[in-house]
Amino acid sequence: MTELSSSAMAEVGLSCLVLHGPNLNLLGQREPGIYGSQNLAAVDLMLSDEAEALGITLQTLQSNHEGVLVDAIQAALGKHHGILINPAAYTHTSVAIRDAIAAVALPTVEVHLSNIHRREAFRQHSYVAAVAVGQISGFGIDSYRLGLQALVHYLRQV
Ligand code: DQA
Repeated sequence: MTELSSSAMAEVGLSCLVLHGPNLNLLGQREPGIYGSQNLAAVDLMLSDEAEALGITLQTLQSNHEGVLVDAIQAALGKHHGILINPAAYTHTSVAIRDAIAAVALPTVEVHLSNIHRREAFRQHSYVAAVAVGQISGFGIDSYRLGLQALVHYLRQV
């Protein structure tokens, strides 16, 4: 049996796109009682460590703009196998992001730092949930790690 280095495994393996929605660039300073004290760079570093452990490649993007996120979802087609997304406030408003995910039909896992189901009523509905494989919500930055594990587990089964 030939042994592959982790980078060689990544080359022939899965690739996932991570999308962070609006205001997540302020993670760490933004309402830390709800979203925690770690910044987005720490989340991305944790995800990149997890990706290496899983033997996959990752591309990460944060945007405050709905159209940029829609463009990134469309561009993922033919390039990535799955999407991990925290749509942030667009979770509750964006038919465009929901339609983009449905259009590319890439397996998508939705994550949230806070448990959106025990917050204000307007946060309890997600437009993305109906087109996602599943949702992980309420575990702080661990939601992202668990979400990536769930996505890769799912992709390796299908
Ligand atoms: C969030 C929850 C959303 O309701 C909110 O608008 C966010 C972050 C979360 O990760 O808990 O910006 O997606």
